Amino acid sequence: MGSGLSLTPDLQSLPSCCRPYLHITTEQSHLHIMPNKEILRRLYEIIKPYRPLLGIAMVCMILHSAFTTAQAWILKPVIDDMFIEKDMNMLKLLPFAIFFIFLMISMFNYCYTFLLEKIGQSIIQNLRVRLFEHIHKQPLSFFHEHSTGTLISRVISDVTLMQISVSNALVNITKDFFLVLFLLIFVFYQNWELALITFILLPTAALPIVKFSKLFRQFSTRTQEETAKVSDRLYETITGNRIVKAFSKEKYEVDRFQDQVNALFAIVLKDAKYRSMQHPLMHTIGGVAFSVIVWVGGKEVIYDGASPGTFFAFLVALIAAYEPVKNLSRINPLIQQGMAAATRIFSILDIEPEIRDKDGAVPLQPFTTRIDFKNVNFSYDKDTQVLSDVNLSVPSGQALAIVGHSGGGKTTITNLIPRFLDIKKGSITIDGTDIRDVTLSSLRSQIAMVTQQTILFNDTVQNNIAYGDLNASIEEIRKAAKAAYALDFIDNLPNGFDTIIGEGGARLSGGERQRVSIARAILKNAPILILDEATSALDTESEREVQKALENLMKNKTTFVIAHRLSTIKNCDRIIVIKEGKIVEQGTHDELLSLNGEYEVLYNMQYK
Ligand SMILES: Nc1ncnc2c1ncn2[C@@H]1O[C@H](COP(=O)(O)OP(=O)(O)O)[C@@H](O)[C@H]1O
Ligand SMILES: [Mg+2]
Repeated sequence: MGSGLSLTPDLQSLPSCCRPYLHITTEQSHLHIMPNKEILRRLYEIIKPYRPLLGIAMVCMILHSAFTTAQAWILKPVIDDMFIEKDMNMLKLLPFAIFFIFLMISMFNYCYTFLLEKIGQSIIQNLRVRLFEHIHKQPLSFFHEHSTGTLISRVISDVTLMQISVSNALVNITKDFFLVLFLLIFVFYQNWELALITFILLPTAALPIVKFSKLFRQFSTRTQEETAKVSDRLYETITGNRIVKAFSKEKYEVDRFQDQVNALFAIVLKDAKYRSMQHPLMHTIGGVAFSVIVWVGGKEVIYDGASPGTFFAFLVALIAAYEPVKNLSRINPLIQQGMAAATRIFSILDIEPEIRDKDGAVPLQPFTTRIDFKNVNFSYDKDTQVLSDVNLSVPSGQALAIVGHSGGGKTTITNLIPRFLDIKKGSITIDGTDIRDVTLSSLRSQIAMVTQQTILFNDTVQNNIAYGDLNASIEEIRKAAKAAYALDFIDNLPNGFDTIIGEGGARLSGGERQRVSIARAILKNAPILILDEATSALDTESEREVQKALENLMKNKTTFVIAHRLSTIKNCDRIIVIKEGKIVEQGTHDELLSLNGEYEVLYNMQYK
């Protein structure tokens, strides 16, 4: 009955590659230390909705353990009644009984394995969506602090690591606990003296686990840090492959990558050393325990006339009970990794979005009259003031140009209006209502933005434009494209509006991308418009076309235009000049030129 040795096939079948190392990053500096108790409490919160299913799975696991114990129990009649007593009735009965026990073990095994998988996968899906939602609630500053790779790793691999850990822990705690419990009861019932010896000896085999746990958590964290650096190099060089090529830095990048991979290798190898040592150590200690038991038990059978069946049943039960203890050594590193992953996930979920609807926020009424900045101050960090005392009043329908040297704070000003950033002092009001008193969605629904970096999704042209209004009909989308001077080139694409435009719109030229994003803004038809260097990245010819598209977009809108080339803003109603976070001049183009001040300097830089 060799099957007694492999009583936990489910654990054995868990692939050792269950540790998706790629894209795991830890920003230890951002992580608060979370006590184990706190992690477990929060994991329990996550598992809680699945308690009914979990209950069924647990009953299956307990029954599985009971029938596994019966496997050992049936050995006694097999040996004593069949082999020694040569009982014919038993010969007929026992094979059926054995088959029945095996069948039950298999059935309950199937049930709890599937149920646990279902619970685990449900947790994964829910947690991913929760993280996704949470990340998208965060303001701009959050994304300045957390790299893309890190966030992707939280949603993909950390969630998986955590689930593997939770499923394993559940199996180990419930099924293996009951298995060991039942087997020990059985063992005591069979021979309490031997059982007592076992009880003292066997736990020593688990000592290495206790010793190694801390090490594994450390190794896991360091492995994940080094892996993060590998994936960061990968991510940067793949997305930046054009620059790598242009500067012929392939060899340089390969060397850097090699160094990083070597660093990872070193730490993984250390981890592997202890990982490989843990089990053999346990096995050696276990060997000592078993030798003593066979010696004592053998003596009892030989000298004291104990039944061989009892002893065999005892021994098989012990071997079976030893299996879960051995498993501990294998899942221990997994659990340590899972706990570390859970800490990282919770640390993201714990970041309260700094900018959110305040209690009692009301929808912003449709914009009619004016936008006012009063003594607006802003800084990204405590030390450097980026905007100081900006006062500005923009009546509805005006086109306001913002000019100034790079780094003056132009982009920052425009990011304050849709509350991508929140001001530190002063107020911004729309028709007299403070923008912090209205809901974010109603505020942002009245603002359209076109920036220098066009953000397009790897989808069809049509869907990219429809992002401005998901209910728009194809006629409205075509109309928007026409107004954005994009209809001609779109119709010439291989599949017209159904052409997939590649990651970030990679299959379109810069000017085409910009016109698609203008069409998107036209479709949105928001009363307030922000144009941040919308034509700066373009050559003169595309700029001219995009400029025409922008003029259509700006019709009847209140517009904030930031432009690098002053020629494009000459016709704006008003121009403000920003220098080091302050408005230093304002007026029309001609008025400003006649001041012979900052504007004239900027103008001369471009035209003289
Ligand atoms: N995320 C950020 N964190 C810290 N400082 C920033 C951040 N973004 C911009 N800054 C700083 O704020 C200042 C104004 O930047 P910005 O508004 O982008 O200028 P402009 O658009 O006029 O070129 C610059 O000194 C810039 O270095
Ligand atoms: Mg800027």
